[in-house]
Amino acid sequence: MCGIFAYLNYNVSRERRYILEVLFNGLRRLEYRGYDSSGISIDADLPSPAAAPVYAGSPPLVFRQEGKIECLVRSVYSEVDEKDVNLDTAFNVHAAIAHTRWATHGVPAPRNSHPQSSGPGDEFLVVHNGIITNYEVLKETLIRHGFTFESDTDTEVIPKLAKFVFDKLHDEEGDVTFSQVVMEVMRQLEGAYALIFKSPHYPNELVACKQGSILILGVNELSGQNSGKLFHDVKALTANGKPKELFFSSDLCAIVEHTKNYLVIEDNEIVHIKDGSVSILKFDHDKEKPASVQRALSVLEMEVEQIKKGSYDHFMQKEIHEQPHSLTTTMRGRLKDSGVLLGGLKEYLKTIRRSRRVVFIGCGTSYNAALAARPFVEELTGIPVAMEVASDLLDRQGPIYREDTAVFVSQSGETADTLFALDYALENGALCVGITNTVGSTLSRKTHCGVHINAGCEIGVASTKAYTSQIVAMAMLALAVGSDQISTQARRNVIISGLSSLPSKASEVLKLDAEMKELASSLIDSESLLVFGRGYNYATALEGALKVKEVALMHSEGMLAGEMKHGPLALVDENLPIIVIATRDACFSKQQSVIQQLLSRKGRLIVMCSEGDTSAVCPSGSCRVIKVPEVADCLQPVINIIPLQLLAYHLTVLRGFDVDQPRNLAKSVTTQ
Ligand code: F6R
Repeated sequence: MCGIFAYLNYNVSRERRYILEVLFNGLRRLEYRGYDSSGISIDADLPSPAAAPVYAGSPPLVFRQEGKIECLVRSVYSEVDEKDVNLDTAFNVHAAIAHTRWATHGVPAPRNSHPQSSGPGDEFLVVHNGIITNYEVLKETLIRHGFTFESDTDTEVIPKLAKFVFDKLHDEEGDVTFSQVVMEVMRQLEGAYALIFKSPHYPNELVACKQGSILILGVNELSGQNSGKLFHDVKALTANGKPKELFFSSDLCAIVEHTKNYLVIEDNEIVHIKDGSVSILKFDHDKEKPASVQRALSVLEMEVEQIKKGSYDHFMQKEIHEQPHSLTTTMRGRLKDSGVLLGGLKEYLKTIRRSRRVVFIGCGTSYNAALAARPFVEELTGIPVAMEVASDLLDRQGPIYREDTAVFVSQSGETADTLFALDYALENGALCVGITNTVGSTLSRKTHCGVHINAGCEIGVASTKAYTSQIVAMAMLALAVGSDQISTQARRNVIISGLSSLPSKASEVLKLDAEMKELASSLIDSESLLVFGRGYNYATALEGALKVKEVALMHSEGMLAGEMKHGPLALVDENLPIIVIATRDACFSKQQSVIQQLLSRKGRLIVMCSEGDTSAVCPSGSCRVIKVPEVADCLQPVINIIPLQLLAYHLTVLRGFDVDQPRNLAKSVTTQ
């Protein structure tokens, strides 16, 4: 799981200093994808044709560093200084690549960082996001052909394979193009990958390709003539010799500050940038020659502000506070007096209604969002809902039928477990629906239909605003599917009006910020925290506990309150803090009884209740109370999670941990 980035300027003079900053900024935007090491490659000063027999240019400069992007930045500037590399040198055309890593094969170390190299002279350099599953076989073969390996990565086989292929084709056929080399490499690779290749054999060219992992091409035509139009033909836009900047990136958020013209590269496409123009080839394992394809550019609907922290200290904090807005954008144009309009589902509603089951599939927070949605989906549609953690479904090879609607929930749309489960459900003939925040993601492209949650770019590794928007998107899905049932019309109206009030209720609950900070300071030294919920708020308990454990690095468990007396009660004493969610719904009186049982064992209680319910939940006055605004019961989880997100945030800051990049985690987990 990593982030890859590339920058190519054509017919426009850019100093080396500028090129470095574009790369570093690109990596900063992608750092959420992995932050244990990083690297870049740029060109050396002057082309020296004598450097190697077949070289047209001189070996590139390669920098790799363990640690966060800022460690790379510092080490590049000091190395550049040491080696007397001139930062003012201007290039009229220049191709640069960059990578930020979340280790899968091999510990974080410079030798395992990317770009990975073909060997001496760095004849082929590769940055990779994904995983090569047959790398061991390839490595053995390459070793037999005299290659020596320096890293523990799966990626290293790729540049070495490129060198092997290049030498072979060069000997056999003489001239060989960069994309031909990459195509032959692709023929050998198995697994998931997005790759960018750079080579001194092909100075000022870049080739990228992908299978599974996401890859974006960004085009900034500097004449301004084409900017603002909705779609451009890639070839027409880029083949006119005009000055331009071209980018490859694992995420749109790394290109938005340069251009809004982008293209989501499809599986098996090879994108070759040469002389400032872009050609796209479609690779087919069974065909010797790839077909050339025409693609259209889209215009990015994202503002640069979305990827900046603004006045906040951390992205997680910003994203928690953005929820009144993100909830509004999730619902914008979709809530009507008469019901809900979900363009992406319209054609499929009848098929969903005929399903034997709805199966929700996701991981982590996205799974929790689906769990929060289960009760109202069952209630409004009358269809039984099964819950599946994606990895567990795959481990068990659990049953998925043609008559099922499988709903895949994923913020990134790139989580490997979820995508493999999607392949599995497709193979089994289920109707596959995607709920994702990421336009152009693999999930949104592979599912039959779906809903974009439109929560805006989420950069903090801990998911917050995506969670609440996912629940709202699934509420709209339930309303749309259930819209043919007359018996539930009144209930639907209550939920629709509850949805409309959510942004203002979210603003209200955010006023608990200072109170949550104060609560966090009282919990700072605790070793553990339990969260009890049930009914609509079982998911809130799981999600609140997940937030606390993943960012504040404090042990925390979310539990079904109904299960308390079947074991967890043994843990209760006057030291262990326990949050009980007891807002108004059909389970309220049961939660009152849970509170009494805990208090009679001297439990250290923090009770979340609806405004005005303090004495109903804690008549003895011996528990701390968090009062939240009331909404339609099934939407209460959207409001109730917000104070717990704030609590996790403040606990993390007070305990001195990294909020946006928690230890060992990455934003989207693209390995199984
Ligand atoms: C926790 C968190 C993770 C993700 C999980 C799935 O805050 O963010 O648990 O929810 O890795 O990621 P997506 O939603 O991108 O599939």
